[in-house]
Amino acid sequence: MSLRYRGVLPALLTVLLLPLAQTASADDAKLALGKKVFTEQAMPSCSICHALQDAGATGAIGPSLDELKPSAAQVATAVRSGIGVMPAFTALSDEQVDAVAHYVATAAGRK
Ligand code: HEC
Repeated sequence: MSLRYRGVLPALLTVLLLPLAQTASADDAKLALGKKVFTEQAMPSCSICHALQDAGATGAIGPSLDELKPSAAQVATAVRSGIGVMPAFTALSDEQVDAVAHYVATAAGRK
């Protein structure tokens, strides 16, 4: 490689790889928020009624999410509208619902 291009390659790599790193950390942040919604922010907490190993949840009123392995869309629908005995969580923002749906689907091994 000629001297002229020496500085270009690292710069090019940075430009190419930075979006990948950002995507990964955005996903981590979403998962962290989702876990928080699951264990702390939802009222009543999802943990009271559902088992989900990753969250240390052992509730047995609703189905075990580890066994059910719901998709993110399934979780979001249940949380927004309620289902059976499970209440609708109307106080949660779209961001919180989206995050908890992504978290549960991921933690339950759906993705
Ligand atoms: C008061 C107890 C209770 C709480 C709190 C609760 N759930 Fe549920 N959940 C249930 C019950 C009971 C069912 C089964 C309902 C049925 O099928 O009739 C259920 C079903 C579900 C399902 C399956 C939906 C489907 O399509 O079959 C998902 C996913 C779920 N809950 C996620 C959550 C999440 C996430 C939270 C917290 C935001 C939460 N639940 C909070 C009791 C609860």
